[in-house]
Amino acid sequence: MGMADRAVNGGGTRVALIYGSTREGRFCNKVMDWLRQQLVRQVDLQLDLVDPAGLAQAGSRVAEHKALTAMGQRLAAAQAFIVVVPEYNHGYPAALKAFIDSFGAEWQGKPVGFVSYGGVSGGLRAVEQLRQVFIELHAVNLQASVSFANASEQFDADGTPWSSERAGRSLDTLLAQLRWWVQALQQGAAQRPYPGRRATRAAALPAPEPASAVQPVVLVNHFRPKPGKLDEFVALQDAAATLAREIPGWRGSRLLRDDESGSAVLISSFDDADAHREWMATSAAFAQHRDKVRALIDSSEPRFFEQVYERTP
Ligand SMILES: Cc1cc2nc3c(=O)[nH]c(=O)nc-3n(C[C@H](O)[C@H](O)[C@H](O)COP(=O)(O)O)c2cc1C
Repeated sequence: MGMADRAVNGGGTRVALIYGSTREGRFCNKVMDWLRQQLVRQVDLQLDLVDPAGLAQAGSRVAEHKALTAMGQRLAAAQAFIVVVPEYNHGYPAALKAFIDSFGAEWQGKPVGFVSYGGVSGGLRAVEQLRQVFIELHAVNLQASVSFANASEQFDADGTPWSSERAGRSLDTLLAQLRWWVQALQQGAAQRPYPGRRATRAAALPAPEPASAVQPVVLVNHFRPKPGKLDEFVALQDAAATLAREIPGWRGSRLLRDDESGSAVLISSFDDADAHREWMATSAAFAQHRDKVRALIDSSEPRFFEQVYERTP
């Protein structure tokens, strides 16, 4: 992932090209290479190649979660998508569905086009099914698509399709529609926000199981509630306990109170400090909770610690 597999050709409309197959030895590379060659000539497009196969190679669930979050940021930055998709048993690949479902608002209010391939159907049945999925995600399906039937026989040794002219014309139509929708949707969104979902689905994904070999980071936060507000503060923290389940890599929390000083200490542990910081910066539910806490306290002193050991009798 990252810059190495991105084809960036300057500014312009940001289009994420998504690999729809994650199979080893996939034909998808050939179709994607053709698409990229066509698109790099379009000086008004900035391309980002998004490959869900990278997720399976992440190694651990924590790494996979990180990779998914990074891909979510790239999808969020895109203004349009083109999915290169094969047909498997009259549908689209399951890995693609899992990838799509990992995100929510990232797709919303943006056009999605398809370049499909397969056997006799050219992947058209996969495309029709994907259109149903993307409607639910508040994306806008482009009417035009590019399709390669009997794909394995359609490309010469250089990766040029025999029907290169026809495919090129279909792609031109797709791009004209894509540009029109990008502009129309952006103008619309500038006038008033789209009434869709706000939170990203990736942020709400179940946290990966903690990698037991990895020591947690521990957040210790010393709160000093305003005089007489300790009980209210403790009750507020208690009521918000379920919020922690949202946090990627959350391993547990402990709240301690000291009536003598009128203060409290919250100790929470996580797989990863960055994932936690990112959650704090992006979670709307946490922002609401933090505002309520701020109204009750004079100060708080949060600090991340690396765990050296945890001992139990
Ligand atoms: C499990 C499986 C099911 C397939 N089912 C269909 C199908 O229903 N219709 C079709 O036109 N092609 C079908 N094909 C052919 C694929 O679309 C074709 O092999 C394509 O190149 C696979 O893409 P990939 O190699 O990038 O994963 C199927 C291929 C596989 C592996």
